[in-house]
Amino acid sequence: MNLAPLKVGLIGLGTVGQGVVRVLQNNGEEIARRAGRPIQIVAAATRDPKKARDCDLSGVRLSGDPQFVARAGVDVVCELIGGLDPAEALISEALSRGLHVVTANKALLAERGPALFQRATAAGSILAFEAAVAGGIPIIKVMREGLAANRIGALAGIINGTSNYILTQMSEQGSGFAEALAEAQRLGYAEADPTFDIEGIDAAHKLTLLASIAFGSAIAWGSVHTEGISTVQAQDIQLAGELGYRIKSLAIAKRLAGGVTLSVRPTLIPAERLLAKVDGVLNAIRVDGDAVGETIYVGRGAGAEATASAVIADLVDIARLQGSAARHWVPPLGSVGGGEAPQLLPLAATESAYYLRLRVADEPGVLRALTSIFAEADISIEAILQKEPRHGEDATVAIITSVIAEGRFHAALQRIQSLPFLRPGLIRLAVEHFNG
Ligand code: HSE
Repeated sequence: MNLAPLKVGLIGLGTVGQGVVRVLQNNGEEIARRAGRPIQIVAAATRDPKKARDCDLSGVRLSGDPQFVARAGVDVVCELIGGLDPAEALISEALSRGLHVVTANKALLAERGPALFQRATAAGSILAFEAAVAGGIPIIKVMREGLAANRIGALAGIINGTSNYILTQMSEQGSGFAEALAEAQRLGYAEADPTFDIEGIDAAHKLTLLASIAFGSAIAWGSVHTEGISTVQAQDIQLAGELGYRIKSLAIAKRLAGGVTLSVRPTLIPAERLLAKVDGVLNAIRVDGDAVGETIYVGRGAGAEATASAVIADLVDIARLQGSAARHWVPPLGSVGGGEAPQLLPLAATESAYYLRLRVADEPGVLRALTSIFAEADISIEAILQKEPRHGEDATVAIITSVIAEGRFHAALQRIQSLPFLRPGLIRLAVEHFNG
């Protein structure tokens, strides 16, 4: 092989940046054979260039100035610092210099992607983002290329490794929330601001990108109904388990007759479903296409080498495509020319089953009052579990309802909330059976 190497500069030498250097060092020859030419990291910017790193940086010019990278004679800039600013300006600068860009920055692309994609097109540059969604799972390539024949009806995923790690540790090790989060941070899974992970914002960023590709048009940021995992308590995980379910932070995009719904919320999944068994930092995405049917992709959703795997896959594409006409490239959101954005529907437009956990006074007639409200609302109770009250305490009741319109469930919920024997702390979570 005698082709010039693809010269790459990294902005950011944190968990992912170091992972990219290590994987290229470990698998460089094989990657070069796949790319048709070597891929070399020649420059990197990091806040503290003198800090010791867990990778070999010989041959890499280091700087504390992130703007240095686009000026270091590279073909590609990898933006691996995350966040909106200064990442947006750094990417724009690289594109305006005619460089290609690889980014893992889901927040930036979900919130300001359309303008950046336009800038890339105008500059004749590739803006690639495989690492932005689900770490090492090549879901962008799957959605844009592998499933290109399909009309996508729905996608559902566990797409935040940190939340999944926390829920798994709480379920299997009996860990407290804070302890599990600290461990996820130590392992390099969490965002700089972990509320993005815990409150579902990171998953909403990723879902915005996936839904844009699935439905063929950029979905505006802010379209996802988002609930975090901080409402989930250890007793919900235990009660759900007794009822035959696991609780996961589930991102869902659904195509309905009049538009689409997008949500990220803690959700009960039947324990026998594959998604319910996806634990720890693993991510999983289920995509339903009309031609192919149900497909599921599972893999590590965060961490150094897994995310580096996605970054390098983009570098391999660029190594092959550099110098070719832009019409041969896969469009950023998978379609040439954005179609009309789908109508966004509120969750009230959909149907769901629900889990309800309530604390009630230990008195005769309590269950009858609860069940009559459901009966009058024409909501069937699929399962009910009451924990025996001890030493004069209140009783805890967990209920799983049938699948019903969200609006009807909320009307019943309001009646329940006005019952005199109800104690504070009612918890409501969606239940997803994946029955079509
Ligand atoms: N904080 C993210 C997660 C990292 O936990 O999934 C990968 O995007």
